[in-house]
Amino acid sequence: MKTVTTPREARRAIDEIKKAGARVGLVPTMGALHEGHASLVRMARARTEFVVASIFVNPRQFGPKEDLSRYPRTLEADRRMLEDLGCDLLFHPNDADLYSPADRTRISVEGISDVLCGAARRDHFQGVALVVAKLFNIIGPDAAFFGQKDAQQALVIQRMAADLDIPVTILLGPTVREADGLAMSSRNRYLDPESRSKAPAMYAALASARRRIEAGERDPAPLAAMMTGTMRAAGFDVEYAGAVDGATLEPLERMAGTVLLACAGRIGGTRLIDNVTLRVSGAKVEEIVLEFPEWSRYV
Ligand code: PAJ
Repeated sequence: MKTVTTPREARRAIDEIKKAGARVGLVPTMGALHEGHASLVRMARARTEFVVASIFVNPRQFGPKEDLSRYPRTLEADRRMLEDLGCDLLFHPNDADLYSPADRTRISVEGISDVLCGAARRDHFQGVALVVAKLFNIIGPDAAFFGQKDAQQALVIQRMAADLDIPVTILLGPTVREADGLAMSSRNRYLDPESRSKAPAMYAALASARRRIEAGERDPAPLAAMMTGTMRAAGFDVEYAGAVDGATLEPLERMAGTVLLACAGRIGGTRLIDNVTLRVSGAKVEEIVLEFPEWSRYV
């Protein structure tokens, strides 16, 4: 696996590959890689001939009081994992490689960036959209792979790519979980043993909401109350918990269509998020990933 650090080097490596007719797959990450990331690299490996992973802890998506400086950085282990997975190219720029101090361009995906995680983390999704648009322009992937774990992020990116006519197919991988249900996350490393033992309550709340929907519940209010209660009982400081429309992220009156059950909260000072996405049609309830290929003109 080759490692490149500048956009120019990345472009040069990829241009050659594209001339040879290979399709390029991109898996953007912030490093501290775990099985969730690995599953996306495997997905890319199975669907494209040349797999690029990027590792960049993007300062623009962290708020002033967030964990940018202590975000885990484990480059050597990450590199070994990517190598073992058969990744072809690692793009690992530093801040100055990607951002000019004179830059003036911002990308804001209106509405869907301002709710759920965007309500408490102002400018977060603007930072995500900007870095992902830059990665798409630098790498020019045929397909890019994102995790259902960050459903709102995946939605914002799909909307941005469609609105800016970026010719990339966006594919989502399901959330990879620990044996007790906790969604894998680079931030799980922050959890002390007590918080780690309580953290699975977040997925337990989502799973019991799903069971109640399967049993016929169609009113979002009692489900939101149950999810909040379950998380609070485990010691979570709940930021949000409930059901929204999977495409607009607007509150639902009744459970029907694409339903995103989503929650966020802090435990022992660490902020965790999780979700379960369901397609509800009549009595039928099935778990899905939040993919909207019909938004793009290029899929
Ligand atoms: P990061 O948190 O490193 O995640 C990189 C990708 O891995 C994202 O698409 C995320 O949804 C996915 N992922 C994380 N945990 C997962 C899990 N348990 N199961 C499945 N997929 C999982 O998300 C980011 O980085 C950044 O915001 C980025 C998109 C790279 C832009 O900076």
